[in-house]
Amino acid sequence: MNFPESLIEQLRRARRIVALTGAGISAESGLATFRDTQSGLWSKFRPEELATAEAFQRDPKFVQDWYAWRRQNALKAKPNAGHRAIADIEERAPEFLLVTQNVDGLHQRAGSKEMVELHGNIHRFRCFENDCAGDNFDIENGRCRSCGGHLRPGVVWFGEMLPVHALESATNAAEQCDAFFSIGTSSLVYPAADLWRRAKDNGALVIEINKDPTPLTPLADYSFLGRAGEILPALVQHIWIHGGGVGK
Ligand code: OAD
Repeated sequence: MNFPESLIEQLRRARRIVALTGAGISAESGLATFRDTQSGLWSKFRPEELATAEAFQRDPKFVQDWYAWRRQNALKAKPNAGHRAIADIEERAPEFLLVTQNVDGLHQRAGSKEMVELHGNIHRFRCFENDCAGDNFDIENGRCRSCGGHLRPGVVWFGEMLPVHALESATNAAEQCDAFFSIGTSSLVYPAADLWRRAKDNGALVIEINKDPTPLTPLADYSFLGRAGEILPALVQHIWIHGGGVGK
């Protein structure tokens, strides 16, 4: 695979790198994205019936079962070459932060360490009624042992605030980086979809890797339309493995 010489040069010099990922990075692990017209989760399920506090209040069991199904799928899936390439960049770049919208835990299983999860993690739980501290939870029966309330997944639902610390870390890193990657995300959901602009406004190079065009595509410095699991490993080989990019 060929990459423009100007991109290679700039990435080799980059000291601070941020990568934002979305559901597309896990597609090659067999997990559904949200907005793909045929296979996306939101083409089969209505977000307002599953991913809101009101939906949970109406029918906790229905929502718990849907998340349990997604949790099982995530556990059965394996990290792919795209996840591993991102962990490789972290190992080699002087400073790196992964910002993910994904809740599936595949980045951690691929070896990523410096990361923030903007939308939480499906493998964690919270007490829905009282947000009880600790984790005295009966996961099997979906109940909080402290107050008897229902357990909800530790993810961000529509209408909810993102975790403050995660958003702050992501924003600061985007504003201070030399290169910002947007990978496998439709760039439609805010505030994540705004991070590339913060990076660009502060002089960073913006690179998109996505299967289909997005609102970012015409505005990115470089846009590669294709599979993250093919493009990312090729880029890592070029820049950091054979190319002598700035190391730690
Ligand atoms: P989307 O489903 O909106 O977008 C996934 C993107 O990945 C699409 O643009 C696809 O073209 C692209 N894609 C698919 N396969 C790919 C591959 N192999 N390589 C590269 N790109 C690929 O998912 P997100 O952008 O992650 O929020 O959605 C953002 C948020 O919307 C999610 O975190 C979720 C959802 O509602 C919450 O649940 C809070």
